Amino acid sequence: MLAAFSLLLWLAWRFWVFSVCPRLYRNQLEYLPYWIPFLGHAIPFLRNTNDLFARAKKEFGHRLCTLRIAGEDIVLVTTAAQISVIDKDRRTYAFEPFVDLMYDEVAKVSRERKLILWRTPAEGYVSIFPNPKQLSCAHTGIALLHKQFSQPDALRSFMVNSLALVNQTLQWDSFYETSMLRSTSDVKVVSLDSLCRDVIMDAQVASFFGTRLLELEPNLRSILKEWDFESWRVSYKLPWVLTKRATRFRDRLVDVLTHYYSLPAAQRSGSVAFVNEVYDDYKHAGLSDRDTAGIVFTILWGLNSNVTVIAYWMLAHLAGNLTVVDQIREEIAPIMQEIDTHPDIDGASLFEITKNPLLTQCPIFNSTFHETLRYTGTGSSFRKTTRDTTIEGRRIPQGTIVAIPQRVQMMSEEAFGPDPASFDYYRFQRDKSLLRKVEFRGFGGGTTLCSGRIAGRHQVLAFAAILLWRYDLEIIGPDQEVLGVRGKPFPRLDEAKPSLGPGRTREGDDLILKVTQRKL
Ligand code: HEM
Repeated sequence: MLAAFSLLLWLAWRFWVFSVCPRLYRNQLEYLPYWIPFLGHAIPFLRNTNDLFARAKKEFGHRLCTLRIAGEDIVLVTTAAQISVIDKDRRTYAFEPFVDLMYDEVAKVSRERKLILWRTPAEGYVSIFPNPKQLSCAHTGIALLHKQFSQPDALRSFMVNSLALVNQTLQWDSFYETSMLRSTSDVKVVSLDSLCRDVIMDAQVASFFGTRLLELEPNLRSILKEWDFESWRVSYKLPWVLTKRATRFRDRLVDVLTHYYSLPAAQRSGSVAFVNEVYDDYKHAGLSDRDTAGIVFTILWGLNSNVTVIAYWMLAHLAGNLTVVDQIREEIAPIMQEIDTHPDIDGASLFEITKNPLLTQCPIFNSTFHETLRYTGTGSSFRKTTRDTTIEGRRIPQGTIVAIPQRVQMMSEEAFGPDPASFDYYRFQRDKSLLRKVEFRGFGGGTTLCSGRIAGRHQVLAFAAILLWRYDLEIIGPDQEVLGVRGKPFPRLDEAKPSLGPGRTREGDDLILKVTQRKL
């Protein structure tokens, strides 16, 4: 009797919420149907976020769709028109709540210190820099990072050192031991994952922080990679037992950064200006070294993760396609031949020689880069409404989470043309306007448009150009062995876990390459 009554009640609830309400209240949010009240879509969200977003898009098409996750609404924004509204109105659709969450969950800044971070000049914050826009302490830190990556001289000082290191560590005799699985004098068997990690992370960390940080923790790159792989557990606020491995990596790196900042500036020279500017400003505002280290840890993470991952996927797709590799070699030949004429080339010359030609005169190379961004995009941009508002006539209450899922946009046939589920090296070469589409979220957009996008593209293209120019790369498949090392199948993109942009590989996947020197 009770069971029958409960079933009736439940059916009435479903009919009311998902059939009657959308017709009766056309200005209210409309939900993707779910089975369990309150819990809503929490389980499919945790199991595979992108699958859930794709299902919502399929059922709702261009209509605004809302998910219910453990009592909280997430409004999905999936058309160019809807995204434009969010990107333009940065006050109503704020990113700050998620920066605050990052301070809480990742940087582990204490509650009192967070109050200092959000203080404005009117509330007592005094920056050591001119502050005509009356920014809060947190916004000053963000602005300092943007300055580092947008002002030509500041960007150049980072890139010059980084390119010199990439060039040096991709010499035949300088490959990292940790990237190689086996080698002889003329063959190396490498893990592509480790190669990208070792070369790119070391170059970027040494150029951003100076070499001192790597001296304090020589295993920094493998710890950071482990953290990057596990970090989604922390973002999803999973129970302590499931996050303790991730937090162990995070805590170690924050400890290293705290130690780094405890040293006098003269003993940690060679960093970019941002590293000391943000420290000095936060210290003046009242933050401890540990708090600043926690926040700078999030920058260390952002600096390295996506660059390494995009380089990995781009090379994985190229290694299996000799036709495209040959076309790219033709495009980069003038740049690489000039580099080859100066055996002792320094970072400044590498920067000048590569900057414009690599970024603007290699159409297939850049098309492959952008296709990699499109094809691997699995992240989402999140905003929270700061007041009641409406999109397309639907009322969105203050405090609602709004998500712009990348994958739904990137796989849109309407936006990117036929066969979006296949990797098309020439897609962005054929149609350059694709890059300007609101749906192209490879570097985010609006208030979270990536500040490191120029540096990141330059870094990935320079790394890939040097590698493809100097070496022949051959994929070792699962049924092949070279120097006693068995290969692996092509890596699978992990669409299930959340990411900051490009998705990672599924656990244990990698590409094993046979590397030999090209006869130039
Ligand atoms: C190829 C390399 C890169 C890719 C694919 C990439 C991708 C992205 C994406 C998709 C977002 C938007 C996230 C959102 O909407 O919530 C983003 C934001 C961001 N990225 Fe990148 N990124 C790259 C390189 C870098 C580098 C080198 C840095 C340097 C620290 C960086 C720092 C940031 C920051 C701080 C943000 C937040 C928005 C801002 O304040 O700039 N990224 N990135």
